[in-house]
Amino acid sequence: MACMRRTSFLQRAFAMLAGTNVIPGWMREPGGTVPAYGSPSSFESAVARSPADARNIALSPLAAQRGIITASGLCFVRCHAGIPAIDPSQHRLLIHGLVKSPLVLTMGDLARLPAVARIHFLECSGNTGSEWRGPAAETVQQSHGLASCCEWTGVRLRDLLELVGVSPSARWFLAEGADAAAFDRSIPIAKAYDDALLAYGQNGEMLRPEQGYPLRLIVPGYEGSANVKWLRRIKLLAQPVYSREETARYTDLMPNGSARAFTLIMEAKSVIVSPSGGQHVSSGRNQVVGFAWSGRGKIAHVDVSLDGGSSWRRAALDTPVLPKAFSRFTVAFDWNGQDMALLSRATDETGYVQPTLAQLVRVRGVNSGYHNNAIHGWRVSTTGAVSRL
Ligand code: CO
Repeated sequence: MACMRRTSFLQRAFAMLAGTNVIPGWMREPGGTVPAYGSPSSFESAVARSPADARNIALSPLAAQRGIITASGLCFVRCHAGIPAIDPSQHRLLIHGLVKSPLVLTMGDLARLPAVARIHFLECSGNTGSEWRGPAAETVQQSHGLASCCEWTGVRLRDLLELVGVSPSARWFLAEGADAAAFDRSIPIAKAYDDALLAYGQNGEMLRPEQGYPLRLIVPGYEGSANVKWLRRIKLLAQPVYSREETARYTDLMPNGSARAFTLIMEAKSVIVSPSGGQHVSSGRNQVVGFAWSGRGKIAHVDVSLDGGSSWRRAALDTPVLPKAFSRFTVAFDWNGQDMALLSRATDETGYVQPTLAQLVRVRGVNSGYHNNAIHGWRVSTTGAVSRL
């Protein structure tokens, strides 16, 4: 009885703290049963990729990401012929070309080989592509949502190359998908011996269909499209293949009319996700939160400016700081109704410093939509509203 009274008092007290006389149902009745495969809370339904139900592109809601790992169902998606529904029992990986003994592997064969799990970001080279001529997107999802970071589990490509015996004349490999686009990219063979993975796992489960189920290439730090999904073929080559994908897309047109091809490495970049466009800042203590990443290794540090670049302060980096992965950075600030201009600038372990848009445009011009890793910013107005700087 005493216990019941005490519980009842607490229920009323918590209802009062929440500003109501009504004791909510979840305090009075037992809750629901455990779903066989869980989903996010119904109160998080605003957290979603956009646009909804597009065939070939979806942007990740970075402002809602709560750590360095992107939830599997929220990863950005870019594909070229929709999402195939591949039966893993019928899926085959062919490794051929300049090899001693070509090999066909089933998913069962791959599952029996030694595997590793690694956390790496993926970023489409077209990410932030709309901002080459200046601010364009209102939210961080629109401007930077073609980037995600996951744990990938799979077989090292170099282990498979040992099995097939690579000819000394091989310098490149072609990776090809089993989707209707037969999407392919050519990649220098050094990457295969460095850290390339044939991944079947993502964040502790099998790959999601839109992430390449049942098998994809992971080439850490390389532009997203090189991480070929639905991987069915690896061909060892002496020269890269200039396929439609290489020539019509993924080359960078320079101001003098020449084109940069095979610009595979994603350079250091950072973006503030909170406060970010569309959000509101409240009075008092707040936190700048953002993500930084580099295709060349670890993030060394991130500097944040609250005054449009007049002064910079060193952000705190969450640990662990992993190579070719998102690093999460934070800076505390007090807001008392002042106008603010927030910027972030990443430096990676090679000493490379994230450039300004002006520095980038001076070298690359504005003909290419690819590889925009410029410093990006947000304005906090005197009302607390956050918009693109
Ligand atoms: Co490129």
